[in-house]
Amino acid sequence: MDDPDGYFGQHVAATYDDSTDDEFTETVIDATVDFLTAQAAGGPALELAVGTGRIALPLARRGVPVHGIDMSRAMTDRLRAKPGGDQIPVTLGDFATTRVEGDFTLVYLLYNTVMNLTTQDAQVACFENAARHLTPGGRFVVEVLVPQLRRLPAGQHVVPYHAGPTRWSYDVYDTATQATTSHHVHVADGRGEHHSVPFRYVWPSELDLMARIAGLRPAGRWAGWAGEPFTGESERHVSVWERPVG
Ligand SMILES: C[S@@+](CC[C@H](N)C(=O)[O-])C[C@H]1O[C@@H](n2cnc3c(N)ncnc32)[C@H](O)[C@@H]1O
Repeated sequence: MDDPDGYFGQHVAATYDDSTDDEFTETVIDATVDFLTAQAAGGPALELAVGTGRIALPLARRGVPVHGIDMSRAMTDRLRAKPGGDQIPVTLGDFATTRVEGDFTLVYLLYNTVMNLTTQDAQVACFENAARHLTPGGRFVVEVLVPQLRRLPAGQHVVPYHAGPTRWSYDVYDTATQATTSHHVHVADGRGEHHSVPFRYVWPSELDLMARIAGLRPAGRWAGWAGEPFTGESERHVSVWERPVG
């Protein structure tokens, strides 16, 4: 991937906010912002992978000062063009390693984006970077899916998850490295156009170890923003770790 915007160049940024995913509904955005406002506990927040400001903007409107890191100029240009976007300082760079000025009571990374870091080392570096930005007592919040490997019958490594007249989507898993690639074929006029995005799936318990390596300790895990209990059937989680005081 030679594009400095990574997999979130102009063509993705242009339609990112038109998504019909639940994450873009007012209900989910309000619940996310309620949760993050409480975790920020009156201090400033740093969003890793701030994107187009889906959450940063409403969080800032609640009175939480937000700083963002993102590698995509195309995505962050969209943020800047929105009302209030000029109030969110953004640092362009890799969120696993980029250091910004200041300390934060909240660092957060949403919507499965920890999986955009495609190696375990990069994911560990991200936890270390989050910890570096936290005040003592500050919180790191990650929202990410639980890997759905139970959908993989023995001997199979491909999971189709959308098959409609205009789009086919499927994930290809390498269970040795936890590398996953999402493939999409867009069909128009009988012709298909293919693109793919690499991820690395990561287990909740593995994230706890990454947090421990970074000097953070668990402060809660839920199945959603409203504090739903996390169980063996949960398909995603909102996890919180804390930088110990002293
Ligand atoms: C799915 S979007 C999430 C944006 C926003 N956090 C949200 O919840 O709507 C993923 C974002 O992560 C950014 N990104 C992916 N990998 C990155 C990396 N290693 N460093 C910085 N930004 C990255 C992309 O540019 C994109 O804006």
